[in-house]
Amino acid sequence: MIRAGTAADLALLVDLESRCFGSASWGSGLLEAALTADQVLVTTAGDGYAIVRVVADTADLDRIAVLDESRRRGVGSMLLEAALDRAARQGATRVLLEVADDNAAAVRLYDREGFVEIHRRPGYYPSGAAAIVMERVEVADSPPHGTVVA
Ligand SMILES: CC(C)(COP(=O)(O)OP(=O)(O)OC[C@H]1O[C@@H](n2cnc3c(N)ncnc32)[C@H](O)[C@@H]1OP(=O)(O)O)[C@@H](O)C(=O)NCCC(=O)NCCS
Repeated sequence: MIRAGTAADLALLVDLESRCFGSASWGSGLLEAALTADQVLVTTAGDGYAIVRVVADTADLDRIAVLDESRRRGVGSMLLEAALDRAARQGATRVLLEVADDNAAAVRLYDREGFVEIHRRPGYYPSGAAAIVMERVEVADSPPHGTVVA
C-alpha cells in the first residue's frame, strides 16, 4: 500500500502537491531533491504521499497529503505511521512538524498519533493562522518508569 518514492514519481508528486496545497505547493525542485534524498513515501494507488527528513536524532515531517476523494479512509494515518516507522529506523528519537491551527483534519490526525503541541507561532501563515509546532517522542524502546537499567 505504501512504497518509497523514486525519481519516476516527480510528475505524480507535482500533481499531488498542487491538488492538495494549491498556491502553497512546493516547486518541482524541492520535490526532486526530496526524491533524490530518499525522503518520500507514496501510496501505491498514487493518492497520497509523505515527506520525512531525518537529521541526526530528529525527524521533520515536511509534507503529508491525501487527495480529497481518498480522505477519511485511513490513508493519511497509514502514511503517517509509515513515515514514523521510517524515521525511527533511520535513528530518529523524536519527530517534529508544523501545522496551521485552523487545519482541523491534520491537527486531529497528529493528535491521534501521539503528537503534542510544544510551541505556537501566531500569524505565521499568510492566512493569519498560527503555526502549531508538534512533537512526538519515540518511547517504544524506553524502559518503563522506575526500571533500573544495569
Ligand atoms: C490531513 C490529511 C492528510 C488526513 O488524511 P486522511 O487520509 O483523511 O486521514 P485519515 O483518514 O487517516 O484520518 C485519520 C483521523 O484524522 C482525523 N481527521 C481526518 N480528516 C478529518 C476532518 N476532515 N475533520 C476532522 N478530523 C479529521 C480523524 O480523527 C480521522 O480519524 P476518523 O476518520 O477515524 O475520525 C488530509 O486531510 C489532507 O491531505 N489534507 C490536506 C493537506 C494537509 O493539510 N496536510 C497536512 C499539512 S500539516
